[in-house]
Amino acid sequence: MGIACENLVDPKQIKLDEIISRYRNENGPLIPILQEAQGVYGYLPAHVLKYISKAMRIPLAKIYGVVTFYSQFRLTPVGRNLINVCLGTACHVRGGAKILETMEKSLNIKDGATTEDGRYTLEIVACIGACGLAPVISINNEVHGRLSPESLAGILAKYE
Ligand code: FES
Repeated sequence: MGIACENLVDPKQIKLDEIISRYRNENGPLIPILQEAQGVYGYLPAHVLKYISKAMRIPLAKIYGVVTFYSQFRLTPVGRNLINVCLGTACHVRGGAKILETMEKSLNIKDGATTEDGRYTLEIVACIGACGLAPVISINNEVHGRLSPESLAGILAKYE
């Protein structure tokens, strides 16, 4: 006898239900719910937003308004390698914009997007605390500094 599939419950769904029930009786809990849901799923899939909307009785349009307003929220999954390009003051002054432009061209994506093969996600950040090495990027939290546009291809190649 096989195990009935309908008895299998998605563990992420269980966590989502826990999050919702914790916030259900509070006022204005949308942002922490979204933050925690993103912690569970890695991003905010459409079906999760619909579920939160129904469970919390918050219009879906309002939820999308919040999700698209705050850059911390993602509507698509992150690639295998998360690239943060710093455009904080020190990096900006030392050519950060050129680093970003080169990165966008070589990956053929813009800020916030993921390459089609799921290998890289590109995000602009304000400062990653390594201003002395400007201009700086980080990939999966590893910092690469004193960059030139020419140095980027070699760095990217190291991240499968
Ligand atoms: S401004 Fe880029 S690391 Fe601080």
